[in-house]
Amino acid sequence: MSQQTDKSSNTVWHRATVTRQRRAQKNAHKSVVLWFTGLSGSGKSTLAHAVEEHLYQNGLNTFVLDGDNVRHGLCSDLGFSEAERKENIRRISETAKLLLEAGIVTLTAFISPFKAERAIAKRLMPQGDFIEIHCYCPLEICEQRDVKGLYKKARLGEIKDFTGISSPYEAPENPDLKIDTSLLSIEQSVQKVTALLRDRNILPAHAL
Ligand code: ADX
Repeated sequence: MSQQTDKSSNTVWHRATVTRQRRAQKNAHKSVVLWFTGLSGSGKSTLAHAVEEHLYQNGLNTFVLDGDNVRHGLCSDLGFSEAERKENIRRISETAKLLLEAGIVTLTAFISPFKAERAIAKRLMPQGDFIEIHCYCPLEICEQRDVKGLYKKARLGEIKDFTGISSPYEAPENPDLKIDTSLLSIEQSVQKVTALLRDRNILPAHAL
């Protein structure tokens, strides 16, 4: 899949005068990437959108990049083989980086099953700007929830390479935050994320 190649070697980087720092001053908040990872049905999208709602109501500029949505557009040409998932995450990482530059608190909700790709995403961003949040939920519970009916199909062999069933999920060893969505309510989970953002001085004082 397309990594940075010689094809783009004859290009020159333009330096913007409207910098990320100036945007942060204008917005009165820093930008950051909140990277939600976890099994299908673990609650990544629900939590990312609930956190976004909270931040947005507190005046922050936010955007959610969501797996199912992005796979209808930017990544509609990609399936779920290992190579295609890597390319999916590469595109999302680069998009998240652009949004970070644009001063936006960016929340990504992708299974992002491979440690290596999450590490690449982290390295793309300035230190401290990539916050990894593991939406943990036991496979059995994701399977019980089966909101989209996909686990059932995966067990029947109707969907191949399904994460947790026939394709691996490499859990983060040292995430910035691990949230057990089988135990916590959405409100409790949102509070955990916002508490972390306060600790890291990302939420401005007025946004409590
Ligand atoms: S990722 O592995 O490349 O990060 P992504 O988050 O974009 O995956 O997409 C996952 C979503 O696609 C799941 O929530 C599910 O709705 C759907 N999906 C369809 N096929 C699969 C599959 N084989 N494995 C996992 N998710 C799948």
